[in-house]
Amino acid sequence: MTIDRVHVPLGARAYDVVIGQGLMAQAGQLIAPFLHRKQVSVLTETRVAASHLEGMKAGLANAGIASTALALEPGEATKDWDGLRQSVEWLLDEKVERRDVVVALGGGVIGDLGGFASAVLRRGVRFVQIPTSLLAQVDSSVGGKTGINTRHGKNLVGAFHQPALVLADIDVLDTLPARDFLAGYGEVVKYGLLGDSAFFEWLERNAPAMAKGDKTLRQYAVHRSVQMKADIVARDETEQGDRALLNLGHTFCHALEAATGYSARLLHGEGVAIGCALAFELSARMGLCAQETPGRVRAHLRQMGMATDLADIPGDLPPAEGLVALMAQDKKVQDGRLRFILARDIGAAFVCDDVPADILHSVLADGLAARG
Ligand code: GLY
Repeated sequence: MTIDRVHVPLGARAYDVVIGQGLMAQAGQLIAPFLHRKQVSVLTETRVAASHLEGMKAGLANAGIASTALALEPGEATKDWDGLRQSVEWLLDEKVERRDVVVALGGGVIGDLGGFASAVLRRGVRFVQIPTSLLAQVDSSVGGKTGINTRHGKNLVGAFHQPALVLADIDVLDTLPARDFLAGYGEVVKYGLLGDSAFFEWLERNAPAMAKGDKTLRQYAVHRSVQMKADIVARDETEQGDRALLNLGHTFCHALEAATGYSARLLHGEGVAIGCALAFELSARMGLCAQETPGRVRAHLRQMGMATDLADIPGDLPPAEGLVALMAQDKKVQDGRLRFILARDIGAAFVCDDVPADILHSVLADGLAARG
């Protein structure tokens, strides 16, 4: 079994993302070089703990590393002030010192929360991400964005705090429900769409078999996605420029998530997929890309059994103006202007701050009209 390593070259904050099968069992040996004493504190959530905590603790014990764990409630609601307080107080109870390492074992919620708790604990301790969802493996565990939600919105309080190491164990994807796997796939396809047409073509050929469980294909898809994210983060760690490309589909997605109450009606990755299709539709209507390109994007998402259109979202949605108003509350609004990632072709995305309001409105109104 091959193990891949992607280096994220950020000077003093550089680190590796290790991608492969069976990494839980090797967790101790992989983490040991970062430890001053042979113990770690693990932040996780109960569902992930039930499937993976014992295996990971055994992997740590193989290298003589002792561990204690706090398993929080699963779900987005844990990523709040209360979850942060609970995590930080527990880490202090555990007497975690400045030179110790915290392990975040879980999906995006635990990664963001555990990363932020590590960023503020004793003014910053190192942490290791062990992402257990596809979305966390290809996106949220890499790049150092950490934080929590407040009543004002998602991820509005946080810090850039890069992990010391990321372990992406391909085996853990076996335990994901099919819907969660496909939602994570929304972020994978985003990489092809934003910057690598050959990867998108590879996905058109291989993603159905990958979704069925082929681990070699899964490892390649995670490896390529992480490599692309690492390249972008290395160029623009704090999102002053190119990193915004990673937000392809996200302006639409955030409005749709807000409109559906951040509920199971629409998972984040599902919103990203629909958002990518809408971003290509908007690009075509603005004459930026060929008229047939949005159809190709949608055809691939449909082939994967994914939602592609506003019509696929169950329940009521606000009218087009309501969705635009929700977009205006997004973090990416600058000087009152909406920011979109548009594309000249598959694999050729760019940042656009001057989308004509009437074209945006027509894309949304037509999508809503198709809901019947
Ligand atoms: N998930 C987008 C980013 O890390 O910048």
